Amino acid sequence: MTVSGFEPNIVAFTCNWCSYGGADLAGISRIQYPTNAKVIRLMCSGRIDPSMVLQAFKNGADGVMISGCHIGDCHYATGNYRTQVRYDALSVAMDVMGLHPDRLKLLWASASEGQQWADGITEMTNTIKKLGPSPLAQISKTKKEPLPKTQEKEKATKKATPKKTPKKAAPKKTPKKTAPKRASKKGGAKK
Ligand code: FES
Repeated sequence: MTVSGFEPNIVAFTCNWCSYGGADLAGISRIQYPTNAKVIRLMCSGRIDPSMVLQAFKNGADGVMISGCHIGDCHYATGNYRTQVRYDALSVAMDVMGLHPDRLKLLWASASEGQQWADGITEMTNTIKKLGPSPLAQISKTKKEPLPKTQEKEKATKKATPKKTPKKAAPKKTPKKTAPKRASKKGGAKK
């Protein structure tokens, strides 16, 4: 069952050399796929730090896709091996955070696999439509939600009118002490 009218917000991290090329090819080949993914291009999928994925969820993503070259094809030799390890660790962390593990997807796609890329995004969009909005996205939305207009007005008027503070009693005036007259330097004091 899908949540009606819900359009998932997906962040897709892609590596420059393979999966970004695949996404590009899908576009050039006019392959139809959902427009729910916002693509972030990185030089290698091994650049993805777990904190980047968590930040995406924190900022309202309903799903995150990590995409890179096939194992053995990484242009930096071992980048995607690191990606695999981080993905496995993140999948465990997702469960701890109360997020369904299907909200995170790993996709290997080369620059010539436009169709695989399009299929991956389509599949992920459909999965997240079934899962509904991310609970973390809901929290971030409620935090950002503006106040209703009436409450906003009240807040503004409260700010505009300064609080009345009781007047402080004026300090008592004490007579000024007059300085003793000094004898002028010229000629000194008269005898
Ligand atoms: S360059 Fe593509 S995964 Fe490393």
